[in-house]
Amino acid sequence: MEKLEPIYEGKAKKLFETDDPDILLLEYKNTLTAFNALKKTTMEGKGALNNKISSYILQYLASRGVPNHFVKMVDEVRQLVRKVEIIPLEVVVRNITTGSICKRLGVPEGINLNPPLVEFYLKNDELGDPIVTEDQAISFGWASEEEIQKIKNMALQVNQLLKDLFKPLGITLVDFKLEFGKTKDGEIILADEISPDTCRFWDSSSGDRLDKDRFRKDLGNVLEAYQEIWRRLSAKGEE
Ligand code: C5P
Repeated sequence: MEKLEPIYEGKAKKLFETDDPDILLLEYKNTLTAFNALKKTTMEGKGALNNKISSYILQYLASRGVPNHFVKMVDEVRQLVRKVEIIPLEVVVRNITTGSICKRLGVPEGINLNPPLVEFYLKNDELGDPIVTEDQAISFGWASEEEIQKIKNMALQVNQLLKDLFKPLGITLVDFKLEFGKTKDGEIILADEISPDTCRFWDSSSGDRLDKDRFRKDLGNVLEAYQEIWRRLSAKGEE
């Protein structure tokens, strides 16, 4: 499929139109950003790792009944995805407290959340993606009541499936962020990426951070941690 014009460039990915109006080409960049891009670096090989990890996870989820935008990998850093209208909400699922929730609520790190917590944040870089209530999302028309319910159910289903995937690999799924989009037929599907950029993964025995927190907190060996996630996933075999 021929690569045409870029239609969007984000912090970690670029989107191109293709000759099929329903399909886009998603390119993973080597850029790594944190704190709303106040901290930024480039890491050779990061884009390829996230492309592989996200492709693997999205195929795993599709085969277990979670519709998503992934179509197929094209090369090391690019994949074809279905075109959707992105719902302007970031959906965070938390199993264990860490990160922004500890700062916001003054709670310690490491509390097990039962049931897992689903939170909505408005996708708005200028405002630093503020947390919003479900009622705000509905009243401002960012999603309908029915869509919010559907998104919450899908987010919890993804959480369970990802925990099932990672637990036998010795990885604790701490929290993660999802994005959803609407197809031209109005179906809500999972979009964006699922990778160590968007999830917190802790090694179940050592507690080592195997995700972007290594970059956020200057822990070093960032690429090695992403490689370790891919090594354990790919050792498991094809999805
Ligand atoms: O920073 P916070 O604790 O709210 O992050 C929760 C989860 O959502 C983390 O896994 C983080 O990597 C992810 N996240 C993200 N993109 C954002 C905000 C959070 O992928 N803009």
